[in-house]
Amino acid sequence: MRLILLGPPGAGKGTQAALLSGALKVPHISTGDIFRSNIKRQTELGKMVSGILESGGLVPDDLTCKIVKDRLMKDDCHDGFILDGFPRTLPQAEMFEKMLDENNQRIDAVINITANDAVIVKRMSGRRMCSCGKVYHMVSHPPKKEGICDFCGSPLYIRDDDREETVISRLKTYHDQTSPLIGFYSRRGLIIEVDGDKPIKDTYEEIMAALGRKA
Ligand code: AP5
Repeated sequence: MRLILLGPPGAGKGTQAALLSGALKVPHISTGDIFRSNIKRQTELGKMVSGILESGGLVPDDLTCKIVKDRLMKDDCHDGFILDGFPRTLPQAEMFEKMLDENNQRIDAVINITANDAVIVKRMSGRRMCSCGKVYHMVSHPPKKEGICDFCGSPLYIRDDDREETVISRLKTYHDQTSPLIGFYSRRGLIIEVDGDKPIKDTYEEIMAALGRKA
């Protein structure tokens, strides 16, 4: 199964991708996580992109596509993948389509998770992250012990780009550059639209039902 998760920042792409990855047994590939991990390790790539992420802008298309191409060549992607945060611009979508064609592959579905801007701005202030990759929310998905990851026991932290002014800038970037992808994939008959304002479990069940799978 090859899936793309589309949606504005904070719609729940990462949350749903993690659930779907467990159920469908294909890797969850988040370009945002790849960039953040490089920033944390202070790699050349990390140094190149840290200012971009901090400002809420987008990493250049060629660089992003190359990173995704390299990642998809790994063995664990043989039976499929779930892309979270890629593609994010029309040029990325076109380059990605070419990449898939060259490998005789196709996307099974593009899940568009909707959520309105006011919900997102409010929601982002409650997000808490763990370095192991788990994502929590102070209200909708809290850890058992405040500030501590349920899985690895590490302290949780707030993402640098979750400050309100950066969230507003990321939403503008989404509306200008990413939302046109809804039309791009609709024309290919691939879009499945789900409501990201519902409880996490309900959104997950809606996606699985649309994919014809049992949740
Ligand atoms: P990225 O990491 O992809 O960020 P994003 O797309 O802005 O999305 P988020 O991770 O913020 O949100 P999400 O939709 O995954 O929501 P989540 O599940 O965490 O990208 C970061 C940056 O990297 C970009 O700004 C850009 O600079 C760069 N970048 C990445 N990809 C790129 C590309 N292809 N090209 C160029 N640049 C790129 O949920 C959010 C919170 O809400 C959590 O706390 C969660 O617990 C909670 N929650 C989730 N669902 C619900 C629900 N249904 N109800 C209540 N709470 C919920």
